[in-house]
Amino acid sequence: MQFESPADLDELRDLRDQLSRFLLAYKFGIDELMTKINILKEEFAVSQDYSPIEHVNSRLKTVDSIVDKMRRKGFELSLESVRDNVTDIAGIRITCAFIGDTYRVAEMLTAQSDITVRLVKDYIAEPKPNGYRSLHLLLEIPVFLSDRVEIVPVEVQLRTIAMDFWASLEHRIYYKYDRHVPESILADLSRAAESASDLDAKMERLHLDVQHLPEQPAA
Ligand code: GTP
Ligand code: MG
Repeated sequence: MQFESPADLDELRDLRDQLSRFLLAYKFGIDELMTKINILKEEFAVSQDYSPIEHVNSRLKTVDSIVDKMRRKGFELSLESVRDNVTDIAGIRITCAFIGDTYRVAEMLTAQSDITVRLVKDYIAEPKPNGYRSLHLLLEIPVFLSDRVEIVPVEVQLRTIAMDFWASLEHRIYYKYDRHVPESILADLSRAAESASDLDAKMERLHLDVQHLPEQPAA
């Protein structure tokens, strides 16, 4: 990092302190949404033979990573600017066994009356050129603090186990090559994404076929 003068350093330190306090509302946003997701999960566990939710992870972006992103994208370093420009401070990833479940879980969440949908990016219907697939929702959820209500954005990524497997490997390769992945590896990754997608389609068909069969009594 390069600084013009000591005053810039003071400003940056000040922004960091403010950011840490500001992040608390985002943590609460994650807590609120995780409660909703866990309620769905537990409800399915008692009432159905399987849960459409396999696992759930959450992460709060670190101050360092927020500052990095702001600098990388050339945004002014202020709290207002962070609020307006970084919408993935609070992130939740939901992994499902089947493609249909990703949409089902997305509908269950977006139908809840205290959740507002700000943006939907359906990279399952329209994968990224590299083969990345996932359903992204930018949700807003109210957080009730002692003296005010804050509306907090939370980025929710829904994907199948196969999509998640691919995305985690791709992510590792991307950083291993410092974002400059050789063409031949990109081509292999793209083919692997196709295979994962074929597997998802086959598993979905099997799952639907089996659902129509009568239950067999346990041996
Ligand atoms: P940023 O990339 O965070 O600036 O957001 P964006 O506005 O480009 O949104 P996008 O929906 O494309 O990506 C948001 C998040 O999705 C990323 O931070 C990743 O977690 C995930 N993601 C998007 N594209 C890829 C990809 O090609 N590979 C992997 N592994 N993850 C991706
Ligand atoms: Mg991106």
